[in-house]
Amino acid sequence: MTQAYEIIERNYDVVIVGAGGAGLRAALGMAASGLKTACVTKVFPTRSHTVAAQGGMAASLGNMGDGDNWRFHMYDTVKGSDWLGDQDAIEYMCREAVPSVLELEHYGVPFSRTDEGRIYQRPFGGQMLEYGKAMAQRTCAAADRTGHAILHTLYQQCLKHNTAFFVEYLALDLLMDEDGACRGMLAWNMEDGTLHRFRAHRTVLATGGYGRVYFSCTAAHTCTGDGNAMVLRAGLPLEDMEFTQFHPTGIYGSGCLITEGARGEGGYLTNSRGERFMERYAPSAKDLAGRDVVCRSMTIEINEGRGCGPLKDHILLHLEHLGAELLHQRLPGISETARIFAGVDVTREPIPVLPTVHYNMGGVPTNLHGEVVTMRDGDPEAVVPGLMAIGEAACVSVHGANRLGSNSLLDIIVFGRAAAHRVVETLRPREGHAHVSKEATDRAIARLDRIRWSKGKTGAGAIRLAMQRTMQRHCAVFRDGPLLEEGLSKLDGVIETMRADLKVADRSMMFNTDLAEALELDNMLAQASVSLRSAIGRTESRGAHARKDFPKRDDENWLKHSFCWLGDDGQVRLDYRPVHLQTLSNDVATIPPKERVY
Ligand code: FUM
Repeated sequence: MTQAYEIIERNYDVVIVGAGGAGLRAALGMAASGLKTACVTKVFPTRSHTVAAQGGMAASLGNMGDGDNWRFHMYDTVKGSDWLGDQDAIEYMCREAVPSVLELEHYGVPFSRTDEGRIYQRPFGGQMLEYGKAMAQRTCAAADRTGHAILHTLYQQCLKHNTAFFVEYLALDLLMDEDGACRGMLAWNMEDGTLHRFRAHRTVLATGGYGRVYFSCTAAHTCTGDGNAMVLRAGLPLEDMEFTQFHPTGIYGSGCLITEGARGEGGYLTNSRGERFMERYAPSAKDLAGRDVVCRSMTIEINEGRGCGPLKDHILLHLEHLGAELLHQRLPGISETARIFAGVDVTREPIPVLPTVHYNMGGVPTNLHGEVVTMRDGDPEAVVPGLMAIGEAACVSVHGANRLGSNSLLDIIVFGRAAAHRVVETLRPREGHAHVSKEATDRAIARLDRIRWSKGKTGAGAIRLAMQRTMQRHCAVFRDGPLLEEGLSKLDGVIETMRADLKVADRSMMFNTDLAEALELDNMLAQASVSLRSAIGRTESRGAHARKDFPKRDDENWLKHSFCWLGDDGQVRLDYRPVHLQTLSNDVATIPPKERVY
């Protein structure tokens, strides 16, 4: 069944999809420069998932008197990425970190302060001094609610500069023309059921990660990677989708995040014997080693029978020795979270924790200006005209195979800002708009109708659960070929159920959350599929991709990024492009690959 939709036309210089930290930082820069800027978001801006970011944003300000500088930060980020990060982009991010944080301070972000009134900085995993010799205090924090502080400030600044917000609009699809340029985006206004065609010279995807593909994750229910899926449907690839980061300290059971800042402030992990086991795995950095290292160590402890609790299936995080005053001042948010979700008073008892899905290193391939790239005519990084991506949706790639904690708030701000600079440099305000083909809109509506009018018997919730359980079991901290292949075959079955037996009970267009969830599920299934295929393809272990059957990193064959395309028929194609080992400037030398120890 179909229905004719009335489509409301909207013309802007730029349309940004998503209103988290990346989207708002980009919107602010563009709107403040006089560009007619729209920000389209499925949740109210200050409810975007950035609001949940806790520990802070890395920048080598050196406020704690430790002699920090951006070269140390760059070294740590390259090492943390297990040498898969592009060194030119990493140099850019670490250098721009300092002015980016100071700008935020001037916009009004209420950072915690040192006694001298400087921005407070705490230690975080893998963030070190002197090329790995000692822990740095590099992570700029607003207690343990840093994302909240940044998001609210950026929203206020966007309002000041007259950004046009379209709130509770679900992005449906990109509008691509015959030449492969992006001309805008079609969105559904969930409040009144209307469809809106946004025509724009630049469409910027700031749609976040797809953590909800998994059963247990720290990400909000809205983190369904809608932008990534739109890119796949546009016939473009996603990059490095095999690299999913687990955070060491999700609360056992609920998966709620307990910030790494808790270990930065002196917290530590123990097994069932009360042993601080990280001393064995990372003698120098211990509990503040890279996240992939800590998660693997925790998983080994549990698998070898040293997990805690009656089922020996979790680890304990101790904060009780830090004292009530420090906990109240520096970690008030997680103290409350632990009380509500674990029933734990952190001043007296440890928190049961477990590695929990937290971040997607992979996403839409971009250059360091935020422009989307693809492989075309022998060029592995050809710019896709009109299309940009920033934040967790993007793969620049600054995180490579494993992101360092507090480099995510940094990434969203630095590259949101970089995208704004690029658009301001390259666009004249109020240029005329190119024609948008009718076919592009028809394709987007055909997908909407296919899902809206589906007549099966299985609700989106049941299909989603089957996908999440499959990913949790088959694409976890440790994987191997047979486990991944079995996961793929199960996922193919889930995708077939979605195709042939989806039930959407509510056909209306006004606040139809049944339909919205089905559309999001369709997006997630596409990403689960390319994640599993990319993981099967990479026959080595690197960063968050730990294969039991290929336990070693293999720089000879695998110092390359994977690109994955998904055809309309569900067929996947993989290809690879080299890592940028070259730096951006002569101010720093390439950091050659070596063994990664903490
Ligand atoms: O642990 C945390 O506060 C998370 C930070 C991050 O992922 O960057």
